[in-house]
Amino acid sequence: MATPQAGLFNEPGRSAQYLEYQFNNATDQDIRSALKAAAAPVEGAAILFAFSKHTWERLGPGWTPSGLQDFTALSSAKGHVMPATQRDLFVWIVGEDRGDIMNAVVQVTQALEPLAELVLDLDGFKTRDARILTGFVDGTGNPGTDEKKRAAALIPEGEQGAGGAFVLGQKWTHRLEPFLNLSVVAQEKIIGRTKETNIELEGAELPPESHVGRTDIDVEDVPMKMYRRGTPYGGGSDKGLYFLAFACDMGRFTHVIDSMLGKTDGVTDAMMDYSDALTGSYWFMPSQEDLDSMLAG
Ligand code: HEM
Repeated sequence: MATPQAGLFNEPGRSAQYLEYQFNNATDQDIRSALKAAAAPVEGAAILFAFSKHTWERLGPGWTPSGLQDFTALSSAKGHVMPATQRDLFVWIVGEDRGDIMNAVVQVTQALEPLAELVLDLDGFKTRDARILTGFVDGTGNPGTDEKKRAAALIPEGEQGAGGAFVLGQKWTHRLEPFLNLSVVAQEKIIGRTKETNIELEGAELPPESHVGRTDIDVEDVPMKMYRRGTPYGGGSDKGLYFLAFACDMGRFTHVIDSMLGKTDGVTDAMMDYSDALTGSYWFMPSQEDLDSMLAG
């Protein structure tokens, strides 16, 4: 049984750093050595690595998980855009204490600086009650048990890449002022859950254009469940959500994104009228065994 990278399922993960890298013309061996140094244990922080298709094909053991692809730019008929900024390497540092996270950030950036450009560098945090900056609770629709989380997130045994996961990372910036100026009832219709009490709007109460209406979908009777671990980021000026999700199959991402963009029925996700995607990358997060064999060369 392959082992997922340590920390993937450690919740809540109140503190995080999201690092996206582009390699310069370093050799494969230099990259492997730098990754080994970056991966050394740091107390209180999990350091997880995921790779673009191109990078895994370059450094990996000669196979690629079925369906792995680069993120491509997408848009809706209403003019929403999801830009593609596919990068080579994603490093997710997660834990509870900001100081522990920063110790890991120093280690990782020291190791990778000579051979890769740090293209995205975001600090993430969780509020006490898991509310994101719009004031809504995030994560409730995640699979409820450890077993269901693993089933949604991990490539199943018997498939290439088993114990690893497909990953989607997107930085979204909020246009908070117009959103928060709406009545709470109007905000709830956009999200598809009540704000204070965090109850899903049911049946006819759930607008088809609400975020939950667009993302809680089945395809051929299979629920497109994913395991979401993104958090808010930001400060006084730019603020939003780094969307980070893990899935057992690439189709979970592509079907849900198509639904948000109205590709299936022309209905777009109302949440996108108040938040803009600024980046988009797909990665493969190998199991610990596959990562170790890749690092061994
Ligand atoms: C600004 C960006 C986003 C924000 C603020 C946001 C926020 C939320 C909130 C508040 C919920 C309801 C609570 C919960 O179940 O966690 C939710 C649910 C969900 N979101 Fe998002 N989300 C964003 C982007 C995305 C994207 C890009 C995807 C997929 C590609 C996505 C997939 C989902 C899914 C699958 C659910 C659970 C639906 C269910 O089964 O009930 N979200 N999101």
